[in-house]
Amino acid sequence: MKTLVVFYSLDGNTELMAGILANKLQADLVKLELEKPYAVEGFKKYFSLGMRALFNSKPKLANENIDISRSDNIVIGTPVWAGSQSAPINSFVKQYEFSGKKVALFVCSGGPDVDKCFTKMKKALGENKFIGEIDFVEPIKTGKDEAILKAEQWAQSLKF
Ligand SMILES: Cc1cc2nc3c(=O)[nH]c(=O)nc-3n(C[C@H](O)[C@H](O)[C@H](O)COP(=O)(O)O)c2cc1C
Repeated sequence: MKTLVVFYSLDGNTELMAGILANKLQADLVKLELEKPYAVEGFKKYFSLGMRALFNSKPKLANENIDISRSDNIVIGTPVWAGSQSAPINSFVKQYEFSGKKVALFVCSGGPDVDKCFTKMKKALGENKFIGEIDFVEPIKTGKDEAILKAEQWAQSLKF
């Protein structure tokens, strides 16, 4: 059974957790990159990128033809933006076909209120077999060790 972890990360939190999960799951790891990386800083980025997430923007990915066909299991990770998945995840979900695969989701957020984001992601992914979801609150700031333990336990519990 092959597993692929695909993620987007703006500030490194989701990237940190994706690496830990991929390692624990012995999975391949793909970071989504944008053809035109976001160039917004400070407070502006919350408004600008939050709006893109809210309005379901799908920026062009720099990754060409990610081969998901050989993976039975896909783990998708994203930061929460304005209560939604980040815009690059919209692009990925739109571009690829996940039917017949087991899908698990993880998010990094600034707070604990992430249910809306999981609901939106599941809706965007359509009829898939979701086998798990987990969230991490800014692990770089709040404590890597705790987040790493939580991630490893979750990875072990996934029924792929
Ligand atoms: C544009 C933007 C919007 C955000 N909106 C939310 C939000 O609605 N809820 C929340 O809990 N955190 C929100 N955050 C915080 C991020 O989800 C959080 O910092 C996350 O850990 C960032 O992951 P990253 O380092 O992988 O980019 C937002 C951050 C950005 C940049």
